[in-house]
Amino acid sequence: MIAIGSDHVGFRLKKEIERFLEQKEIVYKDIGTFSEERCDYTEFACKAAEQVARGICEKGILICGTGAGVSIAANKVAGIRCVCCSEPFTAEMSRRHNDTNMIAVGSRVVGVELAEKIVWQWLETPFEGGRHLNRVRQIAQIEQDQMRFV
Ligand code: RB5
Repeated sequence: MIAIGSDHVGFRLKKEIERFLEQKEIVYKDIGTFSEERCDYTEFACKAAEQVARGICEKGILICGTGAGVSIAANKVAGIRCVCCSEPFTAEMSRRHNDTNMIAVGSRVVGVELAEKIVWQWLETPFEGGRHLNRVRQIAQIEQDQMRFV
């Protein structure tokens, strides 16, 4: 199951991506926001990231105006590797090399078709493992080390 969340600026694109996921018969969990009423992207980035970090959802998709805010917020949740993406190449490589478990796109940056291409590329690409696994483990280690300072 895929967690999907957005702020008010990303709400319409979230709906389009949900329709796309339905066409592909991919099960998703919409964690909000549920209207175009102004809200804070941090709330929905955090809710979706928690679904992924707890293993309730396998991966997560986030949308705000640029993808920046939601990706920064999601990456504060332990275990989240979220990439902010505006083209399919980075989406693909972030799966192959970084084992990203969340992706963020900007509704003010990409159109619906490009967003769908990015998301599909990301969902379809496996993690390569091998030498990249060690680096992903190093990222987790950085997270562990930093916890000593809080
Ligand atoms: C909301 O105005 C906007 O700041 C938000 O959608 C996002 O782009 C933040 O990074």
